[in-house]
Amino acid sequence: MSAAAPSIADDLRRLATLGATPLGIDRRLFTPSDRAARAQFVAWARADGRRVTQDRAGNVFAQRAGRRAAAPILTGSHLDTVPTGGPYDGAYGAVAALWALRRLDQDAVDTEFPLEAVAWAGEEGSRFPLGCLGSSAFAGLNDLASLEALWDDDGVSFAAARDGVNGLLRGVALRDETRAPSAYVELHIEQGPVLENRGVRLGNVTAIAGQRRFEIEVTGESGHAGTVPMGLRHDALVAAAEIVVALEAEAAANDSVVVTVGRLVVEPNQTNVIPRRVTFRVDARSIDESVLTRIAADVVATAERIGARRGVHVAVASIERRAAVAMDARLRSALAEAFASLGEEALDLPSGAGHDAMCVAAIAPAAMIFVPSAGGRSHVGDEFTSPADLDLGVAALAQALVTIDRRMAKEG
Ligand code: GLV
Ligand code: MN
Ligand code: MN
Repeated sequence: MSAAAPSIADDLRRLATLGATPLGIDRRLFTPSDRAARAQFVAWARADGRRVTQDRAGNVFAQRAGRRAAAPILTGSHLDTVPTGGPYDGAYGAVAALWALRRLDQDAVDTEFPLEAVAWAGEEGSRFPLGCLGSSAFAGLNDLASLEALWDDDGVSFAAARDGVNGLLRGVALRDETRAPSAYVELHIEQGPVLENRGVRLGNVTAIAGQRRFEIEVTGESGHAGTVPMGLRHDALVAAAEIVVALEAEAAANDSVVVTVGRLVVEPNQTNVIPRRVTFRVDARSIDESVLTRIAADVVATAERIGARRGVHVAVASIERRAAVAMDARLRSALAEAFASLGEEALDLPSGAGHDAMCVAAIAPAAMIFVPSAGGRSHVGDEFTSPADLDLGVAALAQALVTIDRRMAKEG
């Protein structure tokens, strides 16, 4: 009996053991599991004969030579996860980049432009409070010094983590952070239900929603839970709760925005002590920049109004701001041609989730391919995409890289 051919689903299963917990995968940047994932990416790339490099933001690159000494066509995604992540968010696009390059080797396809696979560092912002950390450094949107000064919840700086045992990989050459590619294509699971509901297996992303993130600190007054009458309290948690509910109501009244409070820290967090301080983060997203601008103003006004009425101090800090980004029209047309040449129907759709492509788009034409997510579920342990759809995405990516290369070569 012959063994089954290796598949990308096998590789993703193997990666999913790194950081596995009962709730999903916890592979935050520069932790042992994240380091192991980057080392595995390097091992796979080297086994394919690629030249591998890394930069001081923690991004890892694997290059396949082209006929020209030109800036590469770049493709990949991230290897880190949220603390309860699934096996496909990010990891799929990074590993698929290696599979697509390998497929071109097997088919003896030469390209004019070099092709480069990338595993971006810290896309989720789960350890250090900045999303798309590695790709924003690569695109020059955040300089290295500002990243190095970020701190995690345990008081470890980005620089210390990066320079520690789980940081940069030994034996992998260093390169400059910023080097604009000729083009960028990211393959990712959709993380929503649209493709599955429409029965279409490939998505051609039109635009990525913009994001605003805030940290709100509400400071009230602590006291004894049994002795302070209700009317005399300045409870920081009740004020924060009212702000959260008000923000939900404002978002619910507008179809084109989503607002989430997914992190909240209560101090002193004791059953019999009135909460003195609550720090929480607000994540607002929309494809429409003008809606985001209005929501951002509403977040500040709502928090201050409720704080003033409840006699607590409210401080709102903007911690991240990314504009909505349209995908490059010419690359989208190349993707459409590639999908058609595979005989596959595709759907144009926007992305509500953030992706490294939104940062790379600042320095190069960028596009994204989606494959379906079962039940639209993501950022959860039971995230799932079928092995057949994973394979189709790799085929579509390989074909897209060739189509983009041919088109760009023709343009000179
Ligand atoms: C990344 O997954 C994000 O959209 O926050
Ligand atoms: Mn992702
Ligand atoms: Mn994610």
